[in-house]
Amino acid sequence: MWQNEPMRTATEFSKLKQAAKRHGTPLYVYDERIVTERYRELAAVISYPNLEIHFAVKANSNPRLLKLLKRLGADAETVSPGEIRLAKRAGFTSKQIAFTCANASAADLDAVIRAGGTVNADSLYQLEYFAKRLPKRRPLGVRINQGIAGGHHKHVMTGGPDSKFGIDPSQVRDAKRIAAKYGRKIDGVHQHIGSNVLDPPLFAKAMRALLGTARQFDELDYVDFGGGFGIPYRPGEPRLDIPKLGKLIDQTMADFVNEAGYQPRLAFEPGRYLVAEAGTLVVSVTDYKITPHKTFVGVDSGFNQLLRPAMYGSYHHIENASNPRGRAQKVTVAGNVCESGDVFAKDRPLAAPRIGDLLAIRTAGAYGETMASTYNARPLPKVAVIT
Ligand SMILES: Cc1ncc(COP(=O)(O)O)c(C=O)c1O
Repeated sequence: MWQNEPMRTATEFSKLKQAAKRHGTPLYVYDERIVTERYRELAAVISYPNLEIHFAVKANSNPRLLKLLKRLGADAETVSPGEIRLAKRAGFTSKQIAFTCANASAADLDAVIRAGGTVNADSLYQLEYFAKRLPKRRPLGVRINQGIAGGHHKHVMTGGPDSKFGIDPSQVRDAKRIAAKYGRKIDGVHQHIGSNVLDPPLFAKAMRALLGTARQFDELDYVDFGGGFGIPYRPGEPRLDIPKLGKLIDQTMADFVNEAGYQPRLAFEPGRYLVAEAGTLVVSVTDYKITPHKTFVGVDSGFNQLLRPAMYGSYHHIENASNPRGRAQKVTVAGNVCESGDVFAKDRPLAAPRIGDLLAIRTAGAYGETMASTYNARPLPKVAVIT
């Protein structure tokens, strides 16, 4: 199934239309049922006993979705003091919050120390900063770059030689020495190879690499493999094979437990997988322009509200919620930002769009609203949560 089928029924279109009528457009609509489905599906395929799913708040920090994920059993993964505040406001306790961030300022690091929770140092400098100041009862880990990257675009590949993230495995000895200098041990290892990875064996390969490094430490409290689980953006694109992923994860952890002789906590930090398909950006058609070269459909939103197409060239499926059975026309859907790169879809078939129609820009629940800006002095998009 490409996307949750009920999302694509007439009932769902009418929910989108009702929400747009009530709140106006541009409007992000999030469907809690899809978040619930994705969370349960992921949690169910991994049998390893000490599993923790840390939701990556950067993907979507809507308070209702954060509260929902907490109720479902998730912890929170954060990258700034602001995200920690949002997670706490949604009810996550300090213990349920982990922090990992490259190039954080001293003010950020101090705020993280005050806030509580697990900390993964991204550099030897950060490690020393935390080792010196973080209370010993607080878990302190280190992010490692094993040289393995994955993802839909080079901007989101976070492993490998050009990546700014983590320390090199060859620096493990230095990391241990720094921790020991302050009378503490390193509690965990962390990595995140990139985002929107659809290839289970690549996750297993990255896990094995990090677990190899984990063997250089005495007993670790946790191993954290980050996020990156991908979802299909295009109709017909195969889904990530979650049962296969679960089996590979269990097998890889079983091998580690067998060799290392202990069972660390296992953490993942999915963002996109849990929320992307739950989100639709509903926009209104504001203009229709035929040139000798193209037909442009203008809408009341732009890359200031959904950056992914302009930033990564990402595909987002678009449907005409007001006229779903209209005759398909090949159109370019463009936004209202004063830049020519402000295009949501190029030369795509779309059911006959008319001025005032509502278009549903799909799979916009991750890295949509959280990346929105007020560029061109436009307000941030409105938001509605449906169940
Ligand atoms: C450290 C870390 N963990 C988790 C994530 C979430 O990634 P995704 O949304 O692809 O699951 C990110 C994304 O950038 C990240 O940097």
